[in-house]
Amino acid sequence: MRLATRLFASIGLLVAAAVVGSIVAADVLLRRHLEPEIAGELEREARLVAALAPTDSTRWPEFAALVGTRLGRRVTLIDPEGHVRGDTEFGRAALAQLQNHRDRPEVRAVLDSGRSVGMNERLSASTNERQLYVAIKDGPPGLAVMRVSTTLAVVDAQIHAVQRAVAAAGLVMLLAAGLVAWLLSRVLARPLLRIADAARDIAAGRPAEFPDVHVPELAHQVDALRAMHHELERRFDDLRREREESRTLVEALSDGVIAADERGAIASANAAARRLLGYGPSEALPPLGELFHDRPHRALMREVLAGKLVERRELDLDDRTVVLSARPLAGGGILLVLSDVTDVRRLETVRRDFVANVSHELKTPLTAIAGYAETLAAEASGSQAVGFAQTIVENARRMQRLVDDLLDLSRIESGGWRPEPVAVDVESAARDAWEPFAERAAARRVAFESATAAARTIDVDPEALRQIFTNLFDNALRYSSENGCLRVATDPRTDEIVVTVADTGSGIPSEHLPRIFERFYRVDVSRSRQEGGTGLGLAIVKHLVEAHGGRVAAESELGRGTTILLYFPAVTQS
Ligand SMILES: Nc1ncnc2c1ncn2[C@@H]1O[C@H](COP(=O)(O)OP(=O)(O)OP(=O)(O)O)[C@@H](O)[C@H]1O
Ligand SMILES: [Mg+2]
Repeated sequence: MRLATRLFASIGLLVAAAVVGSIVAADVLLRRHLEPEIAGELEREARLVAALAPTDSTRWPEFAALVGTRLGRRVTLIDPEGHVRGDTEFGRAALAQLQNHRDRPEVRAVLDSGRSVGMNERLSASTNERQLYVAIKDGPPGLAVMRVSTTLAVVDAQIHAVQRAVAAAGLVMLLAAGLVAWLLSRVLARPLLRIADAARDIAAGRPAEFPDVHVPELAHQVDALRAMHHELERRFDDLRREREESRTLVEALSDGVIAADERGAIASANAAARRLLGYGPSEALPPLGELFHDRPHRALMREVLAGKLVERRELDLDDRTVVLSARPLAGGGILLVLSDVTDVRRLETVRRDFVANVSHELKTPLTAIAGYAETLAAEASGSQAVGFAQTIVENARRMQRLVDDLLDLSRIESGGWRPEPVAVDVESAARDAWEPFAERAAARRVAFESATAAARTIDVDPEALRQIFTNLFDNALRYSSENGCLRVATDPRTDEIVVTVADTGSGIPSEHLPRIFERFYRVDVSRSRQEGGTGLGLAIVKHLVEAHGGRVAAESELGRGTTILLYFPAVTQS
């Protein structure tokens, strides 16, 4: 309902209720006030009539007619039997035909109940108007009751006049209500509608038009709306600018960035992403599920679409190597980052090949040097010459070990070597690998212990495992003090088996711990060199375990010992 109609309806209803109430109240109140007054008047008149009534019964009819006409009332003189002996409205002749009035309520009231005044109000049979009858017990001898009556039409007329006045006032008020409603709607409703229009325009980003209002409360609203509009504009500008900045930034990144919705439809991809995936700047990109053709890449995309976090997975695209990371976004959707590592991988290959080639080329001359030096040492006479020859042998042997390690590493790294896993009993493999160290250990009084749990066998390449143990045992012996202990244990978990090799040696300072698996990394260079170490042992261990799909970790406490942890997947990748 419109405001004007509503206002009019409510004011109208109020006015109507007030008018009806006043009309009813006028009827009730006026009647309650006027009727007793008239009754009192009638009683006083009846007493006057009784006092003036002649004693001569023959004059009663004329007396009733006369006094009634003068008073403007109907006067009835009634004898004790109830016969009417004089009546203003009936002549002497008609009196005989009149009904006996003994049973009229007002007459009965004075004659039977002994009250001084009898009163009754009823419709007159002759005039069909309401009449008020008042009777008293009085009069000259021969008469018992004096009754004076009058029509109540006067009262009704007065009440109706008042009611008409009230109704007229109500009508005027209704008209006024209509006018007020119309005026209010003009002053309030229209500006409100215009304010609503302006708000809608603001929401839709259209230029908004604000109404001119003179009602202070509404003017406040308009001012507030205007302020909100300006603030919103400012923030939108800020947002637009920030968005533009971020877009430029993402576009300028050398890494590919792709944003997709949760179903995989690509919402945006920067230039680097398009270049890496082989799409032109304006070419439409297919959804994530169809972005790649290779089966493993598609499987990876399915993982991504299932909401999994993918960290640095390497993908070989046609002529590029790309590292992909993907994460689900908080508000739904997926973010993918592609880094081009083609050049890095190429350099790595070059380095690996170089190291492998040099190592290979060094192998033969080193064997020759070592061989000749040994012969020299055996055949030379003179302690100095033997000493020189021995030094040559020692250093040649060290270089041979280094070259062997380097060749091993290149072989594992290049992928030219693949593990051939079979079920291997960890404990016996550890014991076999320990065999060559037993003598050295006995000399340093280092004990060997193995505590392998229920799942003692793991799927692993036996030769690789031997090499792993050999490197770890070698380290443990090299860097442990006398009277130590070396412990091999397994700990099967749900999806991996952990093999630990713990010693009670010197330990590794925590700042070096993260780097010990790097190639050529040695904590104490002089000690390691003195022990004949090259810093390649743990790198080989790491690569061997990783070739099985596992990973390595190290824990150490300075002075108390080191634990190397090897995590093999429960089902080895082949
Ligand atoms: N069990 C250990 N206790 C204390 N330090 C260790 C232990 N294992 C390794 N390290 C430290 O980590 C470094 C790297 O070990 P890694 O086995 O790779 O090289 P290396 O033993 O020096 O030489 P290589 O094993 O190639 O002959 C070592 O130089 C040594 O400082
Ligand atoms: Mg070592």
